[in-house]
Amino acid sequence: MSAINIALLGMGTVGTGVVKILANNAHNIEQKVGAPVVIKKILVRNPGKVRNAPTDAKIVTDIDEILNDPDIKIVAEVMGGEMPSKDYMLAALKAGKHVVTANKDVVAKYGRELFEAAEANHTDFLFEASVGGGIPIIRPLKQCLAANQITEIMGIVNGTTNYMLTKMTNEKMDYADVLAEAQAKGYAESDPTADVGGFDAARKIAILASIAFGARITLDDVNVEGITNIAIEDIEYARELGFNIKLLAIAKQDDCGINVRVHPAFLPTSHPLASVNDVFNAIFVKGDAVGETMFYGRGAGELPTASAVTADIIDVARDIRHNVSSRILCTCFDHKHIYPVSK
Ligand code: NAP
Ligand code: HSE
Repeated sequence: MSAINIALLGMGTVGTGVVKILANNAHNIEQKVGAPVVIKKILVRNPGKVRNAPTDAKIVTDIDEILNDPDIKIVAEVMGGEMPSKDYMLAALKAGKHVVTANKDVVAKYGRELFEAAEANHTDFLFEASVGGGIPIIRPLKQCLAANQITEIMGIVNGTTNYMLTKMTNEKMDYADVLAEAQAKGYAESDPTADVGGFDAARKIAILASIAFGARITLDDVNVEGITNIAIEDIEYARELGFNIKLLAIAKQDDCGINVRVHPAFLPTSHPLASVNDVFNAIFVKGDAVGETMFYGRGAGELPTASAVTADIIDVARDIRHNVSSRILCTCFDHKHIYPVSK
C-alpha cells in the first residue's frame, strides 16, 4: 500500500515528539491506518539547527515547497503563534490538504475561518492537542458528550502555571526559577506571558466553551487573571487555612447566558482539583444526561502533546486510506448572550 505523505510545520518541542512517535510506533500506526504514514517535508525557521530526533524528511524553509507538493496530503502545524501559522494553515486547506494543529492561539481567534475553509475544500481541520495537551477533550466534547446540554466546564488547563504553583507550594521554589524550569522542560509558550498571564488558559476555555455551548466565544469574552501576583506568602497562607491555590478556567451556561473566566482560586485540599499537580491538567465537564465527567492527564510536554497531534494525523490518514470522511464540523457556532467582561 502506498504511503500517506505528510508535512510538519515546525520541529520544536511538539514537532520533535511527532517525529519520534511516527518512527517508534511506525508498525503499529501502519496497521491502524492500512498504509505507512511518512513525513516527507518539515518546515523550520533555522535549517542549520541540530534536531533532537533523526528524520529522513527534507528540511525546508519555504512553505510553497509543501503547498505545491501534490504528494503531501496532511499538514501538521506545530509552529505556534498567530502568524504566519494561520495563513499557512488556510493556504494548506485551500490547496486541498488536511490540516491538524496544536495551536490554540489560532483556533481560538480564527477557528471559524479555518472550519469554513475546511468545509469549502472538503478537507479536515483537527485540533485535539490545542487544549489539555495529551488529554482527549475536544473529541469527547464534540462527539461522545454530544447528547448532553453542557452546563459547566471547570478545570486546570495550563501545565506551566500548574507546574509552577506545585513547585512553589511543595518546594517553596522562587517564581522566576520555577518559570525558567517550566520553560526548559518545553511546557511554556515561546512568550510565557501567555501562560502566567492566564491568556493561554483563556484561549483554551474559549475553545471548549465554544464547542460545548455551540457559541462563538473568543479571548475577548473571557475574564482573565493569571498568577503573576501570586507570592509564596499567599500560597503559605492558603495552606495554613487548608487550601491549595490553583489557576482555574471556568465556563458556565445558565438561562441568562454564558460566563467564561480564568483566575487563581483557593481550593480546599480535599477538592479533586487541589491534588492535580505538576504539568497535569484536569477538566470537569457537567452534562444534563451524563452528570459529572473528569478528564485528566499531562497537559503539556513533548510526547503527551505529540500523542494528540499524531492521533489526529492517524485519524485523517485512515480516512484518506479508506476514502471516507469522519469530519465533525464545528461551523455551527451561534451568537449567544455572554456575560460582559469586567474591566
Ligand atoms: P517550539 O518548541 O517553539 O517550536 C516551534 C517550531 O516552529 C520550531 O521548530 C521553529 O523552527 C518553527 N517555526 C517557528 N516559526 C516559524 C516560521 N515562521 N517559519 C518556519 N518555522 C517556524 O514550539 P512548541 O512548544 O513545539 O509548540 C508548538 C505549538 O504547539 C504551539 O502552538 C504551542 O502552543 C502548541 N502546544 C505546545 C505544547 C507544549 O507542551 N510545548 C503543548 C500543547 C500545544 P526552528 O526550530 O528552526 O526555530
Ligand atoms: N504552554 C502550554 C501549557 C502548553 O503550559 O499548558 C500546552 O498547551
